[in-house]
Amino acid sequence: MRTTQLRARHGLLAAGLTVAAILAGGAVVAAPAHSAPGTLAAAAQSSGRYFGTAIATSRMTDPTYLGIAGREFDMVTPENEMKLDVTQPARDRFDFTAGDRIVAWARENGTQVRGHTLLWHSGQPGWLANLSGAELRAAMLHHVTQVVDHYRGQVYAWDVVNEAFADGTGARRSSNFQRTGDDWIEAAFRAARSADPGAKLCYNDYHIEDWTQAKTRAVYAMVKDFTERGVPIDCVGFQSHFDRTTPVPASYRTTLESFAALGVDVQVTELDIEGSGATQAADYARAVGACLAVERCTGITVWGVRDSDSWRPGATPLLFDAAGAPKAAYDAVLAALVAAGPVDPSPTPTPTPTPTPTPTPTLTPTPTPTATAPAGVCTADYRVVSRRHHAFTAVVRVVNVGADLDDWVVGWSFPGRQRVVAAWGATVTQDGDQVTARSADEVARLTSGSSLTFGIRGTSRGGNAVPAGLTLNGTPCTDRS
Ligand code: G3I
Repeated sequence: MRTTQLRARHGLLAAGLTVAAILAGGAVVAAPAHSAPGTLAAAAQSSGRYFGTAIATSRMTDPTYLGIAGREFDMVTPENEMKLDVTQPARDRFDFTAGDRIVAWARENGTQVRGHTLLWHSGQPGWLANLSGAELRAAMLHHVTQVVDHYRGQVYAWDVVNEAFADGTGARRSSNFQRTGDDWIEAAFRAARSADPGAKLCYNDYHIEDWTQAKTRAVYAMVKDFTERGVPIDCVGFQSHFDRTTPVPASYRTTLESFAALGVDVQVTELDIEGSGATQAADYARAVGACLAVERCTGITVWGVRDSDSWRPGATPLLFDAAGAPKAAYDAVLAALVAAGPVDPSPTPTPTPTPTPTPTPTLTPTPTPTATAPAGVCTADYRVVSRRHHAFTAVVRVVNVGADLDDWVVGWSFPGRQRVVAAWGATVTQDGDQVTARSADEVARLTSGSSLTFGIRGTSRGGNAVPAGLTLNGTPCTDRS
């Protein structure tokens, strides 16, 4: 099964085997809540990825918080519980209580764990911050060995080193660790590999998402050097904290592709985006879309569950509001994840819209701007991926099975007076019930055999009936909805 194979490849074998056991009639274990259709994790799994969140023990007594975490995510990162000041508060006195609590909860929920973080210039206990030279080097590697050994076999990936490069310049960040010698990062990765050969080892940083930035190139150069010299590194974590001054960069996909081409996985590790409403939704769709476009982008983690749980709550940067209700950004992310899933006819089950007799819409063919697509040379799939009250999110996928096209226009007529309120991945306009979607990019070639996918958010006063007869350049497609 494609998903199981992909999940095995990305190290989610345990989860994959669970699914296989259920399918094979083996020991039937209760499928984790997050494998239910229509969740972020289930949608991500359909393209062989995980979808995670930062989690904090201080909020694990909150049923709303824990309910969302258990339902929507199949990966968790302890927000603070595995940091240096928590796990080794005094020299040679280790305390894994908080981290163990998260690992135990994750195991009960069939959820994987990202360890965060072994070595960081910030959040050091006083005893460590005061060391230097060889004594510090020995202490930091002892810390890595002891912590990784404690969680051996329980952690999918470690942020071995966090934020070791300075902003702007591309130089190494000045820190006590850096003053023990340039090779401290390599030494940390080697110690971690020795302690747990089964965990993926990541370098994690912020402001390395933009390919034009010196810091990004400096981290790239380090990872290139490591991979060429056989230093054990498996992944790079792109924290992805975006806001008005640091928007989702246009080059994000290029950055992820460039690092992946070095032979490492890339992971979005701390995604949160300042904003609200449709603008924030579109920003999230762009950020998630950059990962989904890169095969070795193995998963996405948002840095918290609700806006009120964020390290920066005033930015309302997450997918759920303070009351735990999913926001427009949630719908946009879900739609993007579903759209990246398999094209095959067994998509993630979606709520069946109430059957209402849909009059065959008399579609006025959309004016074909350039190339003409001969009749019946496309398939179209319109899927409602989430609904709440009168709001819905749908994903549209059209496959061009005819000749290459230099441009494309997709059209349909809503049968139930639905209204589009937002879109991502295309420019969507509506005139009455007639909807038209065009490429949002300058170049809109749709070669034979390729597909286009975009998402819409809309409102429906009626039964939200699925439109039939979608057209590509005015030609009705074979309906695959
Ligand atoms: O646990 C103590 C509590 O006992 C005390 O009463 C309280 C009073 O200040 O502080 C609590 O510790 C706080 C901790 O979060 C737990 O809430 C620390 O002061 C506070 O500095 C810490 O902030 C965390 C920050 O990293 C620094 O470690 C944020 O929650 C966390 O979201 C943030 O996450 C970082 C990533 O680890 C690395 N990438 C950037 C990201 C955002 O800064």
